Amino acid sequence: MTVHEENPVAEQVIAPGPSGSQLRRFDRDAIGFVTGLEQEYGGVVRISLGPFVVHLVSDPAAVKHILQDNAKNYVRGKFYGNFDLFFGRGMLTTDGAEWRERRQVSQPFFHKPRLVEKSPAITECASDLVDQWEAAADRGDPVDVTDGVMTLAMGVFGKMFLGVDLRPHSAELQPATLFAMQAVLRSGSVSQLLPRWVPTRYRRTSTAHRATLDRVLDDVVERHVRGEVQEHTVVSALLAARDEHGAPWPREAVLAELKTLFLAGHETTGCSIVWTLHAISQHPEVRRGLEAELATVLGGRTPTVEDLPALDHLRHVVAESLRLYPAVWSYPRDVVADDTIGGYHVPAGSSVLLSSYATQHSRSLWENPEAFDPRRFCPAHQDGDRPKYAYYPFGGGARKCIGFEAALMEVQLVVATVVQRVRMDLTPGRPTGIWPKASLRPVPNVLMTATRVSS
Ligand code: HEM
Repeated sequence: MTVHEENPVAEQVIAPGPSGSQLRRFDRDAIGFVTGLEQEYGGVVRISLGPFVVHLVSDPAAVKHILQDNAKNYVRGKFYGNFDLFFGRGMLTTDGAEWRERRQVSQPFFHKPRLVEKSPAITECASDLVDQWEAAADRGDPVDVTDGVMTLAMGVFGKMFLGVDLRPHSAELQPATLFAMQAVLRSGSVSQLLPRWVPTRYRRTSTAHRATLDRVLDDVVERHVRGEVQEHTVVSALLAARDEHGAPWPREAVLAELKTLFLAGHETTGCSIVWTLHAISQHPEVRRGLEAELATVLGGRTPTVEDLPALDHLRHVVAESLRLYPAVWSYPRDVVADDTIGGYHVPAGSSVLLSSYATQHSRSLWENPEAFDPRRFCPAHQDGDRPKYAYYPFGGGARKCIGFEAALMEVQLVVATVVQRVRMDLTPGRPTGIWPKASLRPVPNVLMTATRVSS
């Protein structure tokens, strides 16, 4: 007989948390809310969001339990309803066999040797961007770093995985992506609560942005069908995929996978690059350390993936930036069967909300957590034995980010290319805030002035 059968009531300890619906507080200041709850109540906090019972989870052992040890009990669920609108029904929103089939098709494109082969696309796009920033520097104009980096990230994603340069579509894809990042989240707003058939301005805008994503990515598929893309890409793999009956995937399923990879992949990486450049601009000693390391290791030549293991300081700077600003800062799951997390009862049908942001900013896990200090990741300075899930910017377990190695390569190579060639200074008078939607975005767009490093 198990302990549970002997004394089921004894296990039903309810996690601490505030009373009443927290939806308003969450909508008003999600970041302040999750970090505040972690400080006040600990790593497993029970809250109500409207009619839903949700456990906010930031304790590393509890995160491991959900993402790894008992992952089958935690599925996509009620909070993913709006994701399908933009991402389609793809790898991010499915579970079980449906998810496995999708992930298997794309997985080979994320294996290290393939990424290494495609990595020159990163420095090509980065060099194009720095060329533009140097030209702006010569004119004395500031640059919109967010806009430039998002365009770069689209370029890299398209070249590495689709065999197509998406940068010419940036002007229409950027607003569509931004809209999607907000619209996929369930909120208490009237525009979202009205039935989908009610025609409002919000709905019309939403339809237009979805149509843009569909059109641009469907055109990429068409180019493959017409034989205009010669290389083997994620698109050709999706077109060649067969279901269990030997039939090709419906076009909609192919498109859903591409939208998923595009939306999950480029904007998160773009945000991480912008946050890193922002942090470097605020810490001159970090910038000087990077400039010195890059000069020693590269001596002025363009960085490659092979150089990355020798660039320790760069790696620590990027790791610290992903700690402070994890681009996917929180994500929910629904609970299949009753469970106990950190000693607390978590009922079937309720939800959990994992927050890497709350974990990675926890005072009980990190010394002076709000400070940007890359030395934390230096083996000589590591402050104690941190548990595995004290740091998980890319999630964990079977659902760990498929693009984590690609993203790390890209952020490191882009930051190296920029720091090597230009010094970026934040335009004064525009404080940077955090916009916590599906991704964690700096707002407003980050403006900076570039200065050539050699000048
Ligand atoms: C710094 C950049 C990135 C960050 C911080 C990030 C973070 C994450 C996290 C935390 C998850 C897990 C979410 C969950 O468990 O619910 C995830 C999943 C995912 N990411 Fe990333 N990601 C990044 C870049 C990328 C890139 C470059 C791609 C593809 C090109 C990508 C594609 C995906 C996909 C498809 C999933 C869903 C995987 C699955 O459920 O099997 N991500 N990402």
